Amino acid sequence: MNYSSILRFSTFHIYLIAVFIIGAEIFIVMFNYISLSLPTIRQWRHLVSDISCHYSEYGDALPSAEDVSFSPKSNSIYFHETSCRGGLTSRQACSIEAAARTHPKREVYVLFSAPVSENVLKRSCLAKLLQFDNIKAARVHIDMYAKGSTIEPILLDLDESNYPIQHTSDILRILTLNKWGGIYLDTDMIVVKSLDELPPNWVAKQSDFSLASGILSFAKDEVGRNVTKRILELLSQNFDPYDWIANGPYIVQNAVLPLCMTGNISENCNGIKIMPYELFYPLHYSLWKFFFRVETFSTTESPYSYHMWNYLSSAEKIEKGSLYQVLAKKYCPSIYELYGEDFGM
Ligand SMILES: *[C@@H]1O[C@H](CO)[C@@H](O)[C@H](O)[C@H]1NC(C)=O
Ligand SMILES: *[C@@H]1O[C@H](CO)[C@@H](O)[C@H](O)[C@H]1NC(C)=O
Repeated sequence: MNYSSILRFSTFHIYLIAVFIIGAEIFIVMFNYISLSLPTIRQWRHLVSDISCHYSEYGDALPSAEDVSFSPKSNSIYFHETSCRGGLTSRQACSIEAAARTHPKREVYVLFSAPVSENVLKRSCLAKLLQFDNIKAARVHIDMYAKGSTIEPILLDLDESNYPIQHTSDILRILTLNKWGGIYLDTDMIVVKSLDELPPNWVAKQSDFSLASGILSFAKDEVGRNVTKRILELLSQNFDPYDWIANGPYIVQNAVLPLCMTGNISENCNGIKIMPYELFYPLHYSLWKFFFRVETFSTTESPYSYHMWNYLSSAEKIEKGSLYQVLAKKYCPSIYELYGEDFGM
């Protein structure tokens, strides 16, 4: 062996070692990226009309809400996630944490219409939420969930809907309250104080003239059961696949108003209390931008909740020091901390 062959040999070696080191670094970077980053949860605005996942079983790691073992207590709180994103956005997760923190003695259920993967269950904001003792997640299969109910025949109409995600949610919230009783919350409703003191059956106004369905409390008693049954009947008779609010607030209003003494919105409609909008929807939807800007915003009463009007506001940046950011830091600190500056993006 002469010098030049030793030299060639060692050059080749160095080359091999270099390739090995670079390869290992790429592997480590990729591994960290894959294992440490949060799974990407797609934003609402990309998914406005996709409900193709509702009948899919592919990759689902959640327990089923139709299973006999699924039997929530009658004071539980419910969220329905009816898009096909297969997880939660940070904003949705914030609403869920806030409800769980303000109601430590109640169970909070997040019911998904889409399959949720093992990966999302283990490493996402949902995993963070599931560390709370009182937060639970389950999968709803709408065909089985609605089996035998009055709205079963209209499920096919959802495929025709102009707002299938919203309309699925309109149907499911009432079905859920009809089955178990409790409180339903929109995933963009941030509850900031306990609802425990309120009577069992109530609806909140959205304006002086209309009721809203972003937060509903219908108990498992006769009053609650009667009204949810009535709403389901009205839904099955009048389901409108083309109108945005026809199957939500309007139907709830049409079921509740006849129970009011005067036929108008009054304080108490045969056992169902009508709450002022200031307590649950302190900002009218036309003013939603105020949540996102640093501007002084004051209400005369201290509200139970803030509705963020996500359908209008999902693409809006949450400014530093805005009311939304202040609420998130205070009422969903775990989720806020998980995302930091990226919260709400
Ligand atoms: C519930 O509905 C039934 C049947 O319509 C009615 O007889 C009953 O009085 C209602 N109960 C309440 C508490 O409204
Ligand atoms: C209901 O409200 C409308 C509008 O405020 C009013 O004109 C009407 O007289 C009310 N009806 C009853 C029965 O109180």
